[in-house]
Amino acid sequence: MKKITIAIDGYSSCGKSTVAKQAARMLGYSYVDSGAMYRAVALYFMRKDFKDRDNEEALLTLLKEIHIDFRVNAVNGASEVYLNGVNAEHEIRNLEVSNNVSRVSAIPLVRKKLVAMQQEMGKSKGVVMDGRDIGTVVFPDAELKLFMTADPEVRALRRYSELIKKGTLVTLDEVRNNIQERDYQDTHRTESPLTQAADARVLDNTALSPEEQLDLLIRWAEELIDD
Ligand code: DC
Repeated sequence: MKKITIAIDGYSSCGKSTVAKQAARMLGYSYVDSGAMYRAVALYFMRKDFKDRDNEEALLTLLKEIHIDFRVNAVNGASEVYLNGVNAEHEIRNLEVSNNVSRVSAIPLVRKKLVAMQQEMGKSKGVVMDGRDIGTVVFPDAELKLFMTADPEVRALRRYSELIKKGTLVTLDEVRNNIQERDYQDTHRTESPLTQAADARVLDNTALSPEEQLDLLIRWAEELIDD
């Protein structure tokens, strides 16, 4: 059967990864969370207390020390990010990393390294990848491109309850501020800002249930696969 590439871009916390994971499972495709890769780099920079972002040589040296891969959790089947061989899935989601990651992901050399890795991961197609520049930069020829969005207050509430469920101590205000800040930085950075690809389909899930949006995505994908 024909394999396609599914590129999903959109704002923070609008459920990209949930629907991308489910779609990948249903289609038998691999799933790549490109945001997790930027988060892993941000975590490494924080651990090294690296602030000298304009120093190209120092940046290149540091980037060479970073190895990122995804491994499937044998218990729940989830794809998890590993930083230099150690599972970092939990740590990359904390608020400190969330507050740093937009700045780190705006560094051209960081993007260059991660985009090349992402293109390598998706070169045989049969992949669902989510992020901010997947349909515009990483896979401009993807057969199916989605641009996901949802009302900012709905996104803040969803993210807040997700974090609380995981036992993270945050307030709704902190989550709301973080989302606003990331929306601003993601859309205003010079390097590959978040924009909707001209040929992307918009999926606004403010009023959609997770099942409804998954159905929509699968229907669109199957139309292209059967084509
Ligand atoms: O999807 P996420 O919120 O986990 O992504 C974390 C950050 O990484 C987000 O602030 C923007 C950045 N990012 C990016 O610049 N390009 C991508 N392809 C994915 C994420």
